[in-house]
Amino acid sequence: MNSYYNPVHTIEGAGSLNRLPEILKEMKPEVRRVLILAWSREALKHPAFSELKEENPELEVRSLVFQASNPSVEQLFEAYEETKEFAPDAVAAIGGGSIMDVGKSLCCLYGKEIANLEELRELICSKAFGTPRARWIGIPTTAGTGSETTCWATIWDPEKDAKRSVENHENYACAALVDPELAATMPVKLAVSSALDALSHAVESYWARGTNCVSRALALQAVRIIMEHMDGLFEGSAAAHEAMARGSMLAGLAFSNTKTTACHSISYPLTMHYGIPHGTAVSLLLAPVFRLNASCTEGLEELLDALGATDPEELEGRIYGWLARSGQPATLREWGVRREDLPHLAGLGLTKGRADNNPAELTAEKVQRILEEIYEERPVTLSA
Ligand SMILES: [Fe+2]
Repeated sequence: MNSYYNPVHTIEGAGSLNRLPEILKEMKPEVRRVLILAWSREALKHPAFSELKEENPELEVRSLVFQASNPSVEQLFEAYEETKEFAPDAVAAIGGGSIMDVGKSLCCLYGKEIANLEELRELICSKAFGTPRARWIGIPTTAGTGSETTCWATIWDPEKDAKRSVENHENYACAALVDPELAATMPVKLAVSSALDALSHAVESYWARGTNCVSRALALQAVRIIMEHMDGLFEGSAAAHEAMARGSMLAGLAFSNTKTTACHSISYPLTMHYGIPHGTAVSLLLAPVFRLNASCTEGLEELLDALGATDPEELEGRIYGWLARSGQPATLREWGVRREDLPHLAGLGLTKGRADNNPAELTAEKVQRILEEIYEERPVTLSA
């Protein structure tokens, strides 16, 4: 049986952010206090934010700059402490996946008495959020995470060696403003890593145990768009940035209903312990996991056709090429991973809700073999 649901109002294209004042106007009278959560002071200078007060003079607007990537439970708690008295009815989160993840998480926390970190951890683990008191609007400035279209947020807990998920089906964004102009100034390294994250979302959504026909259609289209425009990112092509914003959004809509699988599951400890950028870490795992899943992926030919590859090796060569051109290592050794850590990382790579969503069964032994596969140097094929 196929089932698909996503209530996010997506507005995509150049100038989308200018629709923010209008969107908030439509949310009145429920919305009186707005928090703008931004990744930088610079981002707050966009005219849409000054127009917000001009068009909605009765709105009370505050802003908070949040610059951490891979946000931790501690950092989320700090942001909650700083803004809970203001008690916003809406949060407009402008930034990459980390900012949107914090913005949507805060919406689940307002109105609750959370005295300390331990209570916050307990709340996140229990997932007993109920209906959020605040609504949120996602405004991505990178093209990759798809966070603007999903109802979960990744919050890291290095102290407990865990990756946590703030997950609430009542917490989809009321709107996603996907404006490619915001992502056009990303450094190449970040643009490539973000695009590879989006590619992984699409591929994993396609073969996930929880997939459905709508997600698969969205995923194939996302894969085609991303593969076609990867090389354009190196030339700083505006068309490539525009395509990536669209491809990333479609991939987000696809995996918002299927979740991700082994690539994401195995990648989390690599990011948490070694700081490998999220999109880069998942992309290293894409071909090895593809080989593992090939025999149990329905419609494999269509997926390969969308990828423009005849087999996982060809895909792998292209990924290595993009990583090399963007100045990023393609082996765990070069990222500083110690070989003796692989068994521990393999155990941590079995993330609940992701590993068990992979079409091929995943065990710690299989994960370790995959990690061994990407540990050492292999020949790099530069993409055409
Ligand atoms: Fe991701």
